[in-house]
Amino acid sequence: MLAIIGAMDEEIELLLGDLQGRQDLPYPGATLYRGQLDGVTVLLTRGGIGKVNAALTTAHLLAAAATRIIFTGVAGGVHPDLRVGDIVVSTDCVQHDVDVTALGYELGTVPGEASAWAADETLRAAAVAAAGEVSGVRVIEGRVASGDQFIASPEGVKRLQTTFDAACAEMEGAAVAQVCAKAGVPFVIIRSVSDTADGSAGVDYREFMPQVARHAKAVVRGMLARL
Ligand code: ADE
Repeated sequence: MLAIIGAMDEEIELLLGDLQGRQDLPYPGATLYRGQLDGVTVLLTRGGIGKVNAALTTAHLLAAAATRIIFTGVAGGVHPDLRVGDIVVSTDCVQHDVDVTALGYELGTVPGEASAWAADETLRAAAVAAAGEVSGVRVIEGRVASGDQFIASPEGVKRLQTTFDAACAEMEGAAVAQVCAKAGVPFVIIRSVSDTADGSAGVDYREFMPQVARHAKAVVRGMLARL
Protein backbone atom coordinates (compact mmCIF):
# COMPACT_ATOMS: atom_id res chain seq x y z
CA MET A 1 0.00 0.00 0.00
CA LEU A 2 1.24 3.49 -0.86
CA ALA A 3 1.73 5.79 2.14
CA ILE A 4 1.95 9.58 2.16
CA ILE A 5 3.49 11.54 5.01
CA GLY A 6 2.77 15.26 5.04
CA ALA A 7 4.89 17.36 7.32
CA MET A 8 2.14 19.74 8.39
CA ASP A 9 -1.58 19.76 9.13
CA GLU A 10 -2.26 22.08 6.17
CA GLU A 11 -0.80 19.62 3.69
CA ILE A 12 -2.68 16.68 5.13
CA GLU A 13 -5.97 18.58 5.25
CA LEU A 14 -6.36 18.97 1.47
CA LEU A 15 -5.49 15.33 0.79
CA LEU A 16 -7.58 14.18 3.75
CA GLY A 17 -10.56 16.04 2.33
CA ASP A 18 -10.27 13.96 -0.85
CA LEU A 19 -9.85 10.61 0.93
CA GLN A 20 -12.81 8.31 0.22
CA GLY A 21 -14.00 5.71 2.74
CA ARG A 22 -11.68 7.11 5.39
CA GLN A 23 -10.75 4.92 8.35
CA ASP A 24 -8.78 6.41 11.27
CA LEU A 25 -6.10 4.12 12.69
CA PRO A 26 -4.80 5.36 16.04
CA TYR A 27 -1.14 4.60 16.79
CA PRO A 28 0.98 5.93 19.68
CA GLY A 29 1.78 9.54 18.83
CA ALA A 30 0.17 9.51 15.38
CA THR A 31 -3.11 8.76 13.64
CA LEU A 32 -2.94 7.05 10.26
CA TYR A 33 -5.78 7.60 7.79
CA ARG A 34 -6.59 4.83 5.34
CA GLY A 35 -8.83 5.34 2.31
CA GLN A 36 -8.92 5.80 -1.46
CA LEU A 37 -7.37 8.69 -3.34
CA ASP A 38 -8.29 8.67 -7.02
CA GLY A 39 -9.29 5.01 -6.63
CA VAL A 40 -5.96 3.99 -5.06
CA THR A 41 -5.92 2.72 -1.46
CA VAL A 42 -3.44 4.81 0.51
CA LEU A 43 -2.31 5.54 4.04
CA LEU A 44 -1.99 9.21 4.92
CA THR A 45 -0.55 10.82 8.05
CA ARG A 46 1.04 13.91 9.53
CA GLY A 47 4.67 13.20 10.35
CA GLY A 48 5.39 15.82 12.98
CA ILE A 49 8.63 17.75 13.21
CA GLY A 50 12.11 16.28 13.55
CA LYS A 51 13.84 12.97 12.92
CA VAL A 52 12.37 11.12 15.92
CA ASN A 53 8.78 11.91 14.95
CA ALA A 54 9.52 11.02 11.34
CA ALA A 55 11.05 7.67 12.29
CA LEU A 56 8.15 6.85 14.63
CA THR A 57 5.54 7.70 12.01
CA THR A 58 7.37 5.71 9.34
CA ALA A 59 7.56 2.67 11.62
CA HIS A 60 3.80 2.92 12.24
CA LEU A 61 3.15 3.12 8.47
CA LEU A 62 5.26 0.01 7.91
CA ALA A 63 3.35 -1.80 10.66
CA ALA A 64 0.12 -0.80 8.88
CA ALA A 65 1.37 -2.49 5.66
CA ALA A 66 2.88 0.47 3.77
CA THR A 67 5.00 -0.79 0.88
CA ARG A 68 6.05 2.59 -0.61
CA ILE A 69 6.43 5.93 1.17
CA ILE A 70 6.16 9.47 -0.20
CA PHE A 71 7.06 12.40 2.09
CA THR A 72 5.98 15.93 1.21
CA GLY A 73 6.93 19.05 3.12
CA VAL A 74 8.91 22.29 3.09
CA ALA A 75 12.67 22.82 3.21
CA GLY A 76 15.35 25.47 3.21
CA GLY A 77 16.93 25.79 -0.23
CA VAL A 78 20.68 25.11 -0.24
CA HIS A 79 21.31 24.69 -3.98
CA PRO A 80 22.07 28.21 -5.28
CA ASP A 81 19.47 28.00 -8.08
CA LEU A 82 16.57 27.37 -5.70
CA ARG A 83 14.01 30.08 -5.00
CA VAL A 84 11.04 30.07 -2.62
CA GLY A 85 8.28 27.88 -4.09
CA ASP A 86 10.63 25.63 -6.08
CA ILE A 87 10.51 21.86 -5.55
CA VAL A 88 13.29 19.43 -4.63
CA VAL A 89 12.89 15.71 -5.35
CA SER A 90 15.36 13.60 -3.38
CA THR A 91 18.12 11.62 -5.03
CA ASP A 92 19.24 10.51 -1.58
CA CYS A 93 19.20 11.61 2.07
CA VAL A 94 21.90 12.27 4.67
CA GLN A 95 21.87 13.17 8.35
CA HIS A 96 23.94 16.34 8.53
CA ASP A 97 23.76 16.61 12.33
CA VAL A 98 25.40 13.26 13.09
CA ASP A 99 29.01 13.57 14.31
CA VAL A 100 30.89 10.47 15.45
CA THR A 101 34.13 11.71 13.88
CA ALA A 102 35.90 11.34 17.27
CA LEU A 103 35.64 7.57 16.73
CA GLY A 104 36.87 7.77 13.13
CA TYR A 105 33.52 7.82 11.32
CA GLU A 106 32.70 10.17 8.44
CA LEU A 107 30.62 13.21 9.36
CA GLY A 108 26.95 12.24 8.99
CA THR A 109 27.50 8.53 9.56
CA VAL A 110 25.93 6.65 12.45
CA PRO A 111 28.19 3.68 13.33
CA GLY A 112 26.86 0.55 11.66
CA GLU A 113 24.58 2.50 9.30
CA ALA A 114 24.85 3.71 5.72
CA SER A 115 26.17 7.26 5.21
CA ALA A 116 23.31 8.05 2.77
CA TRP A 117 20.07 6.43 1.64
CA ALA A 118 19.05 6.45 -2.01
CA ALA A 119 15.49 7.26 -3.01
CA ASP A 120 13.59 4.87 -5.26
CA GLU A 121 14.06 5.48 -9.01
CA THR A 122 10.42 4.84 -9.94
CA LEU A 123 9.05 7.11 -7.20
CA ARG A 124 11.62 9.77 -8.12
CA ALA A 125 10.65 9.70 -11.78
CA ALA A 126 6.94 9.93 -10.92
CA ALA A 127 7.61 12.82 -8.52
CA VAL A 128 9.71 14.75 -11.04
CA ALA A 129 7.08 14.30 -13.76
CA ALA A 130 4.23 15.29 -11.42
CA ALA A 131 6.12 18.28 -9.98
CA GLY A 132 6.97 19.38 -13.53
CA GLU A 133 3.27 19.93 -14.13
CA VAL A 134 3.08 22.51 -11.34
CA SER A 135 3.35 25.79 -13.19
CA GLY A 136 5.89 28.45 -12.32
CA VAL A 137 8.22 26.33 -10.21
CA ARG A 138 11.66 24.92 -10.89
CA VAL A 139 12.13 21.24 -10.02
CA ILE A 140 15.57 20.12 -8.90
CA GLU A 141 16.70 16.59 -8.12
CA GLY A 142 19.25 16.49 -5.35
CA ARG A 143 20.40 15.40 -1.93
CA VAL A 144 18.16 16.11 1.04
CA ALA A 145 20.13 16.93 4.21
CA SER A 146 18.21 16.27 7.43
CA GLY A 147 18.97 17.29 11.00
CA ASP A 148 17.22 18.40 14.15
CA GLN A 149 18.16 22.01 13.40
CA PHE A 150 16.54 24.89 11.51
CA ILE A 151 19.33 26.16 9.27
CA ALA A 152 19.34 29.97 9.18
CA SER A 153 22.84 31.24 8.39
CA PRO A 154 25.11 31.60 5.33
CA GLU A 155 27.70 29.44 7.17
CA GLY A 156 25.11 26.72 7.71
CA VAL A 157 24.23 26.75 4.01
CA LYS A 158 27.91 26.68 3.00
CA ARG A 159 28.58 23.73 5.29
CA LEU A 160 25.71 21.74 3.77
CA GLN A 161 26.93 22.58 0.26
CA THR A 162 30.60 21.77 0.80
CA THR A 163 30.42 18.90 3.29
CA PHE A 164 27.29 17.15 2.04
CA ASP A 165 26.61 18.47 -1.48
CA ALA A 166 23.04 19.07 -0.30
CA ALA A 167 20.23 20.58 -2.37
CA CYS A 168 18.03 21.42 0.61
CA ALA A 169 17.85 21.32 4.41
CA GLU A 170 14.97 19.92 6.39
CA MET A 171 14.35 17.93 9.56
CA GLU A 172 12.82 14.55 8.68
CA GLY A 173 13.70 13.02 5.32
CA ALA A 174 16.77 10.99 6.29
CA ALA A 175 14.91 9.45 9.25
CA VAL A 176 12.15 8.25 6.90
CA ALA A 177 14.88 7.02 4.54
CA GLN A 178 16.81 5.14 7.23
CA VAL A 179 13.71 3.33 8.51
CA CYS A 180 12.56 2.52 4.95
CA ALA A 181 16.00 1.15 4.09
CA LYS A 182 15.90 -1.20 7.09
CA ALA A 183 12.55 -2.53 5.87
CA GLY A 184 13.52 -2.60 2.17
CA VAL A 185 10.66 -0.21 1.41
CA PRO A 186 11.07 2.36 -1.40
CA PHE A 187 10.70 6.05 -0.56
CA VAL A 188 11.00 9.51 -2.03
CA ILE A 189 11.16 12.92 -0.31
CA ILE A 190 9.52 15.90 -2.03
CA ARG A 191 10.18 19.38 -0.64
CA SER A 192 8.86 22.83 -1.50
CA VAL A 193 11.41 25.52 -0.73
CA SER A 194 10.08 27.84 1.98
CA ASP A 195 13.30 29.81 2.61
CA THR A 196 16.92 29.86 1.53
CA ALA A 197 18.25 28.65 4.90
CA ASP A 198 20.54 31.71 5.24
CA GLY A 199 18.38 33.69 7.60
CA SER A 200 17.76 36.41 4.99
CA ALA A 201 14.40 35.56 3.53
CA GLY A 202 11.51 36.19 5.84
CA VAL A 203 8.73 33.82 4.81
CA ASP A 204 5.13 34.61 5.43
CA TYR A 205 3.91 31.11 6.17
CA ARG A 206 0.27 32.19 6.22
CA GLU A 207 0.66 33.22 2.59
CA PHE A 208 3.01 30.42 1.65
CA MET A 209 1.33 27.39 3.24
CA PRO A 210 -1.82 27.34 1.09
CA GLN A 211 0.44 27.32 -2.00
CA VAL A 212 2.61 24.52 -0.58
CA ALA A 213 -0.47 22.52 0.34
CA ARG A 214 -1.89 22.92 -3.18
CA HIS A 215 1.42 21.90 -4.72
CA ALA A 216 1.74 18.88 -2.40
CA LYS A 217 -1.75 17.75 -3.36
CA ALA A 218 -1.07 18.25 -7.08
CA VAL A 219 2.22 16.35 -6.92
CA VAL A 220 0.74 13.44 -4.93
CA ARG A 221 -2.23 13.13 -7.30
CA GLY A 222 0.08 13.41 -10.31
CA MET A 223 2.17 10.60 -8.85
CA LEU A 224 -0.87 8.40 -8.19
CA ALA A 225 -1.79 8.71 -11.85
CA ARG A 226 1.67 7.51 -12.85
CA LEU A 227 2.38 4.70 -10.37
N1 ADE B 1 12.33 23.53 6.89
C1 ADE B 1 12.05 24.65 6.19
N2 ADE B 1 13.11 25.47 6.17
C2 ADE B 1 14.09 24.87 6.88
C3 ADE B 1 15.42 25.24 7.22
N3 ADE B 1 15.94 26.40 6.85
N4 ADE B 1 16.14 24.37 7.98
C4 ADE B 1 15.60 23.19 8.38
N5 ADE B 1 14.35 22.82 8.10
C5 ADE B 1 13.60 23.63 7.34
